[in-house]
Amino acid sequence: MSYAISYVSTVDKDVTENDIQNALDYSKSWNNDHDISGILLYSQGNFFQVLEGDKEVLKKLFSNIKNDKRHYDIIKIFEKEVPHVKFDTYQVDFISLDARFQHKDLHSYFSQIKSLNPAIQTSVKYILNKFTEGI
Ligand SMILES: Cc1cc2nc3c(=O)[nH]c(=O)nc-3n(C[C@H](O)[C@H](O)[C@H](O)COP(=O)(O)O)c2cc1C
Repeated sequence: MSYAISYVSTVDKDVTENDIQNALDYSKSWNNDHDISGILLYSQGNFFQVLEGDKEVLKKLFSNIKNDKRHYDIIKIFEKEVPHVKFDTYQVDFISLDARFQHKDLHSYFSQIKSLNPAIQTSVKYILNKFTEGI
């Protein structure tokens, strides 16, 4: 069994574009090293993150993330065990999404979801639709 956690949060008002980029870069490197997959999106003041991986590693990481002063109002969308599925091309990718990054091809975000565990794809797709609405 793998574990999956997803939440949305609000970026702190003192956080700069540089801080956000640092959080994205740090997450990408740490998660890659620890076999954690998922997505992290930033859009217009909000983060949306999905994390998949080992339960103990994820619980510890999520507790770090919750204490991170760069964001607040963390609203958990789900936290659950998911069947382990081994994908040949299991990818970790973190995506920045904001008006200042330009309106990139949203298809790429949705195709990224296909590398997530099927047990959470539907809810993530739904949230991603809502999250990107109007962009
Ligand atoms: C929105 C957001 C998402 C984050 N996601 C991750 C993540 O996926 N992986 C990670 O290692 N750190 C992530 N971080 C950074 C952690 O909150 C924290 O800084 C990191 O785990 C280092 O903690 P430490 O300094 O106590 O070791 C994120 C931070 C923010 C603000």
